[in-house]
Amino acid sequence: MALKGVVLAGGSGSRLFPLTLVTNKHLLPVYDRPMIYYPLLTLREMGCEEVMVVVGGRSVGDILELLHDGSDIGLNLTYRFQRGALGIAHAIGLAREFAGTDPIAIVLGDNILRGELRPFADEFASGDAQAGAVLKGVPDPERFGVAEFDADGTLLNFEEKPEHPKSNLIPIGVYLFRPSVFEVIDTLEPSARGEFEITDLLNHYLRQRSLSHTVFEGGWEDAGTIESLLDAHRFAATFAGDQPIETGHDRAEVEAGP
Ligand code: DAU
Repeated sequence: MALKGVVLAGGSGSRLFPLTLVTNKHLLPVYDRPMIYYPLLTLREMGCEEVMVVVGGRSVGDILELLHDGSDIGLNLTYRFQRGALGIAHAIGLAREFAGTDPIAIVLGDNILRGELRPFADEFASGDAQAGAVLKGVPDPERFGVAEFDADGTLLNFEEKPEHPKSNLIPIGVYLFRPSVFEVIDTLEPSARGEFEITDLLNHYLRQRSLSHTVFEGGWEDAGTIESLLDAHRFAATFAGDQPIETGHDRAEVEAGP
């Protein structure tokens, strides 16, 4: 059973206006390459070969023009369009036919990671858990989903962007699911902000005691705000050289223009 990958590159990118008024957030530069390369390479390192990119918002054609079929970076890419920024759980729902009977790994399109996730992915693919989440301690948990634990250290719940975070551990934008996820997504209701929330999906599996989690010891940035985008540039500069990108674009043709 192969682990398939999904990158979520929809959404409105409104926290980065005016940078994202006329272009897609995932095409913005992060150090020496467009942002979307980072989640794609994360999935490749997790062992995925077949990857679906869920696109949405502006400049969607430019994403296809950039990545083609993915073979330049060793991936087999397909695309699906998300109409409206209806939430992360909604975007995952669009991968139903793509996943078929295989488990899927999701990486959010604005998450930049450096570190070992392959063992967690392999363990999930061969194990019984229906869902998997990757946690990380951060100094500003109120910006994210936040984990809550009981006195024994059992993970109880996730809360999306709480005013008073109950821990400093957040689920970063890497999730693993078995195909049961699509039936669960069908039962979700939109939140007060009108989105199908990833935290509601994770909480469903927590209640079923079927969510495995790991604490990520590697480096991580979410490039979704202007301050974190700047941090992401600096972070990517520390390792991008180890991950050269072969674009497959003919330099002379690109220089000659359309
Ligand atoms: O980065 C980790 C955090 O990501 C988690 O801790 C939160 O629980 C999770 O909700 C998410 O929070 P953000 O506020 O950072 O999510 P954002 O709306 O910025 O969306 C992240 C990516 O997901 C974005 O780059 C594109 C994709 N996306 C988002 C939405 C709302 C879609 O593809 N479609 C969508 O409808």
